[in-house]
Amino acid sequence: MHLPKRTVLGFLLTVVIGASPALCAAEKNIKLPPPDKTGGKPLMQCFTERKSERKFDAKPLPAQLLSNLFYAADGISRPDGRKTVPTARNLQSQDVYAAMADGLYLYNPKNHSLDLVKSGDIREKCGKQAIHKIAPVVLIYVGDVSRIGKNAAEKVFYAANHAGYASQNVYLYCASAGLSTVVCGLVDKPALEKAMGLPNTKRVQLTQPVAYPAK
Ligand SMILES: Cc1cc2nc3c(=O)[nH]c(=O)nc-3n(C[C@H](O)[C@H](O)[C@H](O)COP(=O)(O)O)c2cc1C
Repeated sequence: MHLPKRTVLGFLLTVVIGASPALCAAEKNIKLPPPDKTGGKPLMQCFTERKSERKFDAKPLPAQLLSNLFYAADGISRPDGRKTVPTARNLQSQDVYAAMADGLYLYNPKNHSLDLVKSGDIREKCGKQAIHKIAPVVLIYVGDVSRIGKNAAEKVFYAANHAGYASQNVYLYCASAGLSTVVCGLVDKPALEKAMGLPNTKRVQLTQPVAYPAK
């Protein structure tokens, strides 16, 4: 039986170090399991436990946690295609990327997958603090200003707002799941946009490392 090299490598890594193959070799598409839409902590408790934390464990997050995380950040929640995060005029002008050790991925809400944009680790470009390269995943909120009206001030205002809603959803999910996170604006945005290979209509708004709490 012929198996693609990547599959064999992923299988070996799974056996040898017990890690998910999807998170070890830069897979083109990481198809996420369906998000768990039940359970979690009560919302009022999440409000109380939401906080910024900057000490992370480097341990990879399992696929189910990634699934729930990206559902919170940008998931499609209704049959008409609307999302867990509101956007002005339902523009849906924000993309959420995942910088991980093996590559940069774009969350694809329709397919509920992480689609490989480029191989290689750009986490240290995700913020000016050293914390980003420790977290197994850094969410990057990118506003596509070509999808927001014509007025320059409106483009800036809405793009920033959309990142705020998404990052707060992620904060609350992290509070529910016992994960550590902090939203970050202290980012060399031009350098990160360059590392991501973004066109100049796509602007980094905020980044958000997510990890298990440091032991
Ligand atoms: C828009 C925005 C940008 C932020 N940028 C950073 C950052 O670059 N680095 C950082 O460590 N914290 C950053 N924070 C987190 C704040 O420092 C934090 O929310 C604040 O100290 C209050 O703490 P709390 O989130 O635990 O309530 C940012 C928060 C917001 C809302």
